[in-house]
Amino acid sequence: MDISEEIRALQLDSAEDSGVIDVEKSRPDEADGVVHMEEDAEGSSSADQVHVAPKDTEGSSSTDQVQVVPKEKEKVEAPVQEVKQAVNTDEEVKNKKRHLNVVSIGHVDAGKSTIGGQILFLSGQVDDRTIQKYEREAKDKARDSWYMAYIMDTNEEERSKGITVEVGRAHFETETTRFTILDAPGHKSYVPNMISGASQADIGILVISARKGEFETGYEKGGQTREHVLLAKTLGVSKLIVVVNKMDDPTVNWSKERYDEIESKMVPFLKSSGYNVKKDVQFLPISGLVGSNLKTRADKSTCPWWNGPCLFEVLDAVEVPTRDPKGPFRLPIIDKFKDLGTVVMGKVESGSVREGDSLIVMPNRVNVKVVALYVDENKVRYAEPGENLRVKLSGIEEEDILSGFVLSSVSKPIVAVNEFIAQLQILELLDNAIFTAGYKAVLHVHSVVEECEIVELLHQIDTKTRKPIKKRVLFVKNNAAVVCRIQVNNLICVEKFTDFPQLGRFTLRTEGKTVAVGKITELRTIGNNA
Ligand code: GTP
Ligand code: MG
Repeated sequence: MDISEEIRALQLDSAEDSGVIDVEKSRPDEADGVVHMEEDAEGSSSADQVHVAPKDTEGSSSTDQVQVVPKEKEKVEAPVQEVKQAVNTDEEVKNKKRHLNVVSIGHVDAGKSTIGGQILFLSGQVDDRTIQKYEREAKDKARDSWYMAYIMDTNEEERSKGITVEVGRAHFETETTRFTILDAPGHKSYVPNMISGASQADIGILVISARKGEFETGYEKGGQTREHVLLAKTLGVSKLIVVVNKMDDPTVNWSKERYDEIESKMVPFLKSSGYNVKKDVQFLPISGLVGSNLKTRADKSTCPWWNGPCLFEVLDAVEVPTRDPKGPFRLPIIDKFKDLGTVVMGKVESGSVREGDSLIVMPNRVNVKVVALYVDENKVRYAEPGENLRVKLSGIEEEDILSGFVLSSVSKPIVAVNEFIAQLQILELLDNAIFTAGYKAVLHVHSVVEECEIVELLHQIDTKTRKPIKKRVLFVKNNAAVVCRIQVNNLICVEKFTDFPQLGRFTLRTEGKTVAVGKITELRTIGNNA
């Protein structure tokens, strides 16, 4: 059955206006026309700039040029240190470059971290000495070719196993745009981390390995290429840049036939996942390891048949989603740590925030004050939607915050609920199980991860006509669309999809597999919501 219809029926497409990735139309020098949030592209320095957010303290030895932001576990010991004491004025905010959050997704070993590392290297922030050090370290671990990935994979476990576990973060700038790269893990055990990374992203780089056998493994049922694409769409990643990677590999050797084969197989699948391939998807061949077709167009001697853009050109041309800086403030908390106070991390989904603002942490209703704001490693006074922030708060202890809580405006706080109505698209249930009242799953909605129970199936939706089916429904099977009532044990902060798509779209997972995607249509609270 064709899932595309049903996903479209659920209108999981981003509510934002999705512009076309048109490289020729919006080359860097013409970028003014595509900037929505920060209209003025002035103030862009000529040199590209990159900052890596380290995942652990080991990665931040003094010889490294790369600034590292600690990974989840180590954050308490590695506080916000590398803060440049620059503060922005409102005027500076208006003049600064536009900002985009980019998540790299795709099957394990497709080359996501290698590409991330190469982007940083090509941007001149990682010096040759550091690369040589990583080469030696990779060799010692018998992982010679992994040295580029070591720029993003900063902790010991990741380096010795050669897989990304936690989402790596890095920052780099082109002439027109500041990018936050979120390097998601591809391994199936870490899909929840990928979900967290993708939920913070505006656009995705889907990495596909062209190496013989690798494309096939990633693409087949159970491979993460499919699962990631579906999740990305559900999580609001409205555009995809599909990079066909490892084109340098001896089994590929920049073969046009191989590239075309992959593109022709991916297109119907992307369509069926809800992407408008003409408008929102751009394919290009690259080699992350060698660094071809990334910052500059592929050499004709390497790839004579490619006349399209390179990755940086495509990134520069992507439109920034429209965001409302005047909406009620919403920042889902992804992580928190102590640093002479309580610091929370997350992406601003709605509204703006200013140093000194009074806000409320929901659902525990604690009034807090914004002591300081950090974008990347810079201290700022003011930040708009779309920014990945660290916010230092007074009035709350770090242990009183959980990821999934939402930093919210006081006048229009986000509501806390333990029940909601949702339209669900069932994908594939484990062992073709039936989906009925009493079904339990793990709910992922923005940064919330919470066990939930389907307490009632209200009615099924005809996937062809998209109309409700009047007949009483007791169970549904794979590929069905159904409206149901869902409960969680703890209060969670979510929104109706129509009000805040990013806070109202979710996935249900069972035993490590995504079984359904959905959108919230009605919020309810049962019992005491104190
Ligand atoms: P996970 O994070 O574990 O999902 O993997 P990943 O997608 O980040 O892949 P990673 O960057 O760790 O690379 C996996 C392997 O593929 C390494 O051995 C890389 O050297 C190799 N690789 C990545 N890109 C290329 C490329 O362009 N060409 C070739 N030949 N090998 C590559
Ligand atoms: Mg990786």
